[in-house]
Amino acid sequence: MDNNCPIEYKKGYTNFFGCKINLSSKCFIPKIETEFWVKKAIKQIRGKNFNILDIFSGSGCIGIAVLKNCSEQCRRVTFAEINKNLIEQIKLNLRLNKINPKRYKVIQSDIFKEILGESKRKQKKSKCKQEKERQFDYIFANPPYIPLKNKHLVQNSVLNYEPHLALFGGKDGLFYIKKFLKDVRRYLKLNGEIYMEFDHLQKTDLERLLKKLNYTNYKIYKDQFKKYRYVCIKN
Ligand SMILES: C[S@@+](CC[C@H](N)C(=O)[O-])C[C@H]1O[C@@H](n2cnc3c(N)ncnc32)[C@H](O)[C@@H]1O
Repeated sequence: MDNNCPIEYKKGYTNFFGCKINLSSKCFIPKIETEFWVKKAIKQIRGKNFNILDIFSGSGCIGIAVLKNCSEQCRRVTFAEINKNLIEQIKLNLRLNKINPKRYKVIQSDIFKEILGESKRKQKKSKCKQEKERQFDYIFANPPYIPLKNKHLVQNSVLNYEPHLALFGGKDGLFYIKKFLKDVRRYLKLNGEIYMEFDHLQKTDLERLLKKLNYTNYKIYKDQFKKYRYVCIKN
């Protein structure tokens, strides 16, 4: 590995909110901005026995931090990631952090496509399909959101080493955010909450999109660098 290779890949792991996260598959390196909002979100979680979805999971760092730091409140986390190679990476990180296998499920899925798996197909004609879909109390998402048009602004250590599938969200960066926001409500329980990360330059576009999709109960927050970074949407 050359000198410009990120230190996290050289070491083979990173730390994320008290969890050791192995990065041997060279997946997206968890960022401190993400750790910041995940900590805030976890503080907000009240109650018990929640079902949580970590979508666009990558290394699995978000869901694993929830499982480890929220053992009372969180019953089960479902991890959804499109990249087949990362399914083993997530499972390895779950084992590394000694998470009981009864508390998680890892699915290879293009956004929501496989979230319901067999149950969806079986339920297709059933009246309670909608109830089956609404299975999550909390949904956490860190989608790829860098606009391709801003590729030149990305640090070389990120651009040259981290997987582009994890970085870029189409020309304007909103490709996955749009798909996610269009469908996510179907999977959220009635009093559920969504936490989603985005790029601070997307705030105006994001607000326009939320309005267009009839989201009314949401709040946008800044990260530790005083940049708009995540939105919390209530159902
Ligand atoms: C920005 S990374 C986030 C990884 C991790 N959650 C984190 O915060 O460090 C985005 C992840 O989404 C995955 N991804 C890209 N397109 C996807 C899709 N259509 N469906 C599900 N996951 C996808 C990428 O492979 C990547 O692991």
